[in-house]
Amino acid sequence: MVQVGDKLFEFNLGSSFASAAFTPLRLFRLPDTMPFNTALTRKLGIAVPIIQGGMQWVAYAELAAAVSNAGGLGILSALTQPTPEDLRKEIRRCREMTKNPFGVNLTLLPALVPPDYAAYAQVIIDEGIKIVETAGNNPGAVIDQLKKSNLTILHKCTTIRHAKSAIKLGVDFLSIDGFECAGHVGEHDITNFILLSRARQELKVPFIASGGFADGQGLAAALALGAEGINMGTRFMCTVESPIHHRIKERIVAADENQTALVLRRWRNTSRLFKNKIAEDALKVEKESTTGDFSEVAPLVSGKRGREVFLNGDAEHGAWTAGQAIGLIHDIPTCSELLPRIEREALNAMERTRSMYTQESKL
Ligand SMILES: Cc1cc2nc3c(=O)[nH]c(=O)nc-3n(C[C@H](O)[C@H](O)[C@H](O)COP(=O)(O)O)c2cc1C
Repeated sequence: MVQVGDKLFEFNLGSSFASAAFTPLRLFRLPDTMPFNTALTRKLGIAVPIIQGGMQWVAYAELAAAVSNAGGLGILSALTQPTPEDLRKEIRRCREMTKNPFGVNLTLLPALVPPDYAAYAQVIIDEGIKIVETAGNNPGAVIDQLKKSNLTILHKCTTIRHAKSAIKLGVDFLSIDGFECAGHVGEHDITNFILLSRARQELKVPFIASGGFADGQGLAAALALGAEGINMGTRFMCTVESPIHHRIKERIVAADENQTALVLRRWRNTSRLFKNKIAEDALKVEKESTTGDFSEVAPLVSGKRGREVFLNGDAEHGAWTAGQAIGLIHDIPTCSELLPRIEREALNAMERTRSMYTQESKL
């Protein structure tokens, strides 16, 4: 492989280098163009097979539009908006910032007073959104509502069993969320090396890989394991356009892969959080509580305090979500720097592995 300017030439090294040098077999351009062509890029009309997962208190229009403008798929978080009408405004705001497709995440989690999911879904439909990332429990009714309007559904799940149930509901893509991921990791603790291959073996609909991805080597690996693209959360949190306090981004850069904690397992709602004093206190309560009453831990893991972390920049103020990919993040790029970089790294990784294979007999 020889690089000339921005072009890579691959030569047939069959007989002698002298003759091979004049017989280029293929010509690659490095990625200022659209080198990827996967079921995901084709279906969504995006250039790069990278999705920015919905993130509570992070996935506002600024971030989603920046990811979509860089060729990936940005996703707004529906429930970050207090009402369906606020979501409508946020979708319109995002549309002013990008002409490219973007999606909306709708997360269905157990709540004493659940949000009006049907009303949020109706706004998504009315505003002409084409792709929805669903996550959480019992998504059947919402998926049904969205599918009736022909939206593309990407459903996030942490087990093959849940993925199969989602397929029965008619989802178009699955986002396979390995144990490395930020947030709700599920209760089965299967890392992506196994989970993605199980998805490849078992699932009849295309899937993307989520959890633990932050660079192009990860993207190349996900594609090799059978995925059609990747979903990233923690990496996108730490970009210029991510609307969280700069000090939290610096904390992510300073952290390594050991700095996440799994909390709430006792209540079968395991979440991967940034390992700060609050997360450690929550773990202590979880271990030592004699009642097992959730109200003992609730103040520590309160969403309100987690949100305040992103606003006031004090990483110790509350519980906040981060994945093991935190160890792979060493800078705060713009999305328009990050996505081409990941593409370039992925192409280089694929070329590297390709160069390890030769049809020549070594004997
Ligand atoms: C701060 C934060 C908030 C998140 N909130 C949500 C959410 O509300 N709904 C959801 O489906 N996933 C949520 N996620 C998960 C991401 O969409 C994505 O699946 C996950 O971050 C992938 O793992 P990674 O962080 O290793 O890339 C959140 C992740 C982060 C980092």
